[in-house]
Amino acid sequence: MKLIAGPSSYGLGIYISKLLSLDMINLEWKIFPDGESYFRFPSKIDDVVILVHSLSPPQDKRIVELFFLIKGLRSYGANDIILVLPYLAYMRQDKKFLDGEIISIEVLGELLSFYGVNKYVFVDVHSSEVLKFFKGEIIEVSAFPLFRDILLTYDLVNPLILAPDVKAFKYAEVVARNIGAECDYIVKRRDRSTGEIESYAKDLNVNGRDVVLVDDIITTGGTIVNAAKLLKGYGVNRIFACCSHGVFVGNAITNMHNAGVYEIISTDTIESYYSRVSVAPAIIPAIKSLVEK
Ligand code: R5P
Repeated sequence: MKLIAGPSSYGLGIYISKLLSLDMINLEWKIFPDGESYFRFPSKIDDVVILVHSLSPPQDKRIVELFFLIKGLRSYGANDIILVLPYLAYMRQDKKFLDGEIISIEVLGELLSFYGVNKYVFVDVHSSEVLKFFKGEIIEVSAFPLFRDILLTYDLVNPLILAPDVKAFKYAEVVARNIGAECDYIVKRRDRSTGEIESYAKDLNVNGRDVVLVDDIITTGGTIVNAAKLLKGYGVNRIFACCSHGVFVGNAITNMHNAGVYEIISTDTIESYYSRVSVAPAIIPAIKSLVEK
């Protein structure tokens, strides 16, 4: 058994291979001047291969790369592929919110089945609905139990773990339980057509306290910015923004800091400067159990 890391998950792939004491499959990779991707496997492919490849931006390119890698691995002898998709693109389009929409995640699931993929590891998918579009053995793991150690390094002052909307409350609860803190959530509404977000305060008791905002994904940062603005009005001490998937498009980071966010902490499902928690310890037991099946 060997592991291969796609171009988007090189760091995470190496870390997982070290923890599992597995050899990596070398990958020769380049982008042609016109933007097309080129891959070559200079070394032997094993019968069982773990492929780690995040579908982070640019998502559509990552998806094409994924299929090149799967097809290539199969052609060169991999009969069993365990596919680790640390960030699953299109997971928020798991239903038709408006008439005429396409369920994008369904297309991805169908294409992967067509290529014979039937063992998956996902990290914090947006809703359990997403998983029904993939066929075979599926394990979803969560990054949120792994935030404990880093948060404890900050000597948090009477912390409140706060979800910026009710859907993220389940993640906030995990973080809160692990560090022995209170948790709550803010009420958020998003206009489906314009994408604009409105946040409403509940009775939040945050005066002088450190607040840790916890969400599954930070994309534009709009949700965190709105929450931070609300908290500022309540006399909050420091604001931390933690997420499993730090997509951070455009000015997300600057906007969050400008809104008063003190520290931004994400994981390596999308590798960046803010990837301060690795999801490898959560992924490894999932891989082990799929290997045994
Ligand atoms: C939405 O339901 C998600 O849980 C996140 O709150 C959302 O994707 C964050 O997006 P943004 O950073 O653009 O507000």
